[in-house]
Amino acid sequence: MKKEEIIEICSKYVKYFIDISYEKGGIFNSEMLLFVSLTNHLNVKLIIESGRANGQSTKVIANYFKNHDHKIISIEYDKYTPEVKNAYKNLKDYKNLTLLFGNSFDLLPKLITEDCCILIDGPKRLKAIKLAINSLKNPLVKAIFIHDLYRDSPHRKDTEKTFLNFFFTDDYDYVKKFRYLDKRNWIDQRKYKEIFVN
Ligand SMILES: C[S@@+](CC[C@H](N)C(=O)[O-])C[C@H]1O[C@@H](n2cnc3c(N)ncnc32)[C@H](O)[C@@H]1O
Repeated sequence: MKKEEIIEICSKYVKYFIDISYEKGGIFNSEMLLFVSLTNHLNVKLIIESGRANGQSTKVIANYFKNHDHKIISIEYDKYTPEVKNAYKNLKDYKNLTLLFGNSFDLLPKLITEDCCILIDGPKRLKAIKLAINSLKNPLVKAIFIHDLYRDSPHRKDTEKTFLNFFFTDDYDYVKKFRYLDKRNWIDQRKYKEIFVN
């Protein structure tokens, strides 16, 4: 899919995008716009998320598809963090969600039972790329979204070398068009900035 087509699809679906308040470690709105728009466009009914933490991205997805018949499954590795309670609180009103605990390397292959899109926000970096490669072996997987592949990072370069079709939301034209969606995310994120003192 060409960049122009991706931007056009996101432009078509942006009117349905609802701003959700930012949680520590969450994914910014302009990035989530790509995920929900392409998922919509590809007409898949199964969405699988790996890495839930406080469930901000989970809430964006559940909210976006709340009036559709999508099945949304979210996997979180760590059962014993304060984020777990917070995620339950954030997601309690959504009936279209299944929250699982476990390692996505074990769970994901069993959950791919029909055409689906996958969002990977944990594990990170090389492990995320490995999880994507494993998952894409199944033809039911129509697209995979990996978060935090920063420009100029080694993992970004690995991604460019590994996959045939890819798009990054820090693309200049994409940012120019959709950065307004992140205004509140930038402000909210300041609450979580930590100060390190040597
Ligand atoms: C950055 S946080 C996710 C934030 C979340 N997507 C949001 O927007 O609020 C990453 C999470 O991925 C989880 N994680 C890391 N490796 C994992 C794995 N192999 N399987 C499932 N979850 C994993 C971590 O425990 C952590 O809670």
